[in-house]
Amino acid sequence: MKKLLFPLFILLCAGCARQEAALPEFVPGQVWLDTDGNPINAHGGGMLYHDGLYYWYGEYKVGETTLDPSLGWEAYRTEVIGVSCYSSADLYNWKFEGLALTAVEDDPNHDLHPTQVVERPKVIYNERTGKFVMWMHVDSPDYFKACAGVAISDNPTGPFEYLYSLRPNGEMSRDQTLFVDDDGRAYHFYSAEDNATMYISLLTDDYLLPSGTYTRNFPDQYREAPAVFKYDGRYYMLSSGCSGWDPNVAELAVADSILGPWETLPGNPCVGPDADKTFYAQSTFVLKVEGLDNAYIAMFDRWNKLDLENSLYVWLPVDIQGGKLSIPWADRWNLSYFR
Ligand code: GAL
Repeated sequence: MKKLLFPLFILLCAGCARQEAALPEFVPGQVWLDTDGNPINAHGGGMLYHDGLYYWYGEYKVGETTLDPSLGWEAYRTEVIGVSCYSSADLYNWKFEGLALTAVEDDPNHDLHPTQVVERPKVIYNERTGKFVMWMHVDSPDYFKACAGVAISDNPTGPFEYLYSLRPNGEMSRDQTLFVDDDGRAYHFYSAEDNATMYISLLTDDYLLPSGTYTRNFPDQYREAPAVFKYDGRYYMLSSGCSGWDPNVAELAVADSILGPWETLPGNPCVGPDADKTFYAQSTFVLKVEGLDNAYIAMFDRWNKLDLENSLYVWLPVDIQGGKLSIPWADRWNLSYFR
């Protein structure tokens, strides 16, 4: 009997362990593997929810990180390869869908040539045109070009066709994000005036150009890495300060109207160890979780400036207590946090 029970016990234990391992979790700051077993490579990313799936777009950073010492600042970079796309139904398991937008290798003057800079891609879906529209920060290796690039596709996974780059409303555009409001209007948030001022620009109905309506926000406050969301009828913008790949303290601002005026909330929205350095990370997106009330995930990049490919992701829940928003550190967590 003992002989029979022992293997049964081992089997049961293995079953338990398997069940435990299958419990989905976010583990901020740890290597995150895709469904093929490769580290997820989608930095400075943005999310789109479409037809029951989440899509995660980001900078596909592969290969050596280099620095041009003649620039005099820490302009660490990798060659442009493209914008990656991952899909997921549950936010834990991500399937690599390939490159949604690919570098253009045979034209050294192209914005997407490997020698250039492509950062912070964000994709939105236009209900009217049925097109997926990507905006991204495109730049020269010295970051003087400071433009926004625009690409379009019929499918969320691409291929995206690159249309052009521009300086929206005649201004520099570096760190950037997009936000689609409930009425279908889309807005482009971008660090302008050499990063000193955050511009908020209403896009045209097809989302392909600035409409000409825009506001200047947070003048001389050097806000970067904007991540915008709407909660309880108000607009929120999470952002970082301006210190290159190095972390700094985050801020949260709120507005009743998306074009402003915006008010910076007092204190640090991040709570816990290393909150003054945003957990050694920088904001990139705040995702509203589908099907759950008041459930938002704050997404950050923990840059590894000497090896950008191996930068990590920090995803944390936005805690909403009586209308006060904070982003508490958690070693590991899952969506039950919101239930
Ligand atoms: C950061 C910015 C990143 C990248 C980096 C380059 O401030 O948020 O997206 O541009 O500078 O140093």
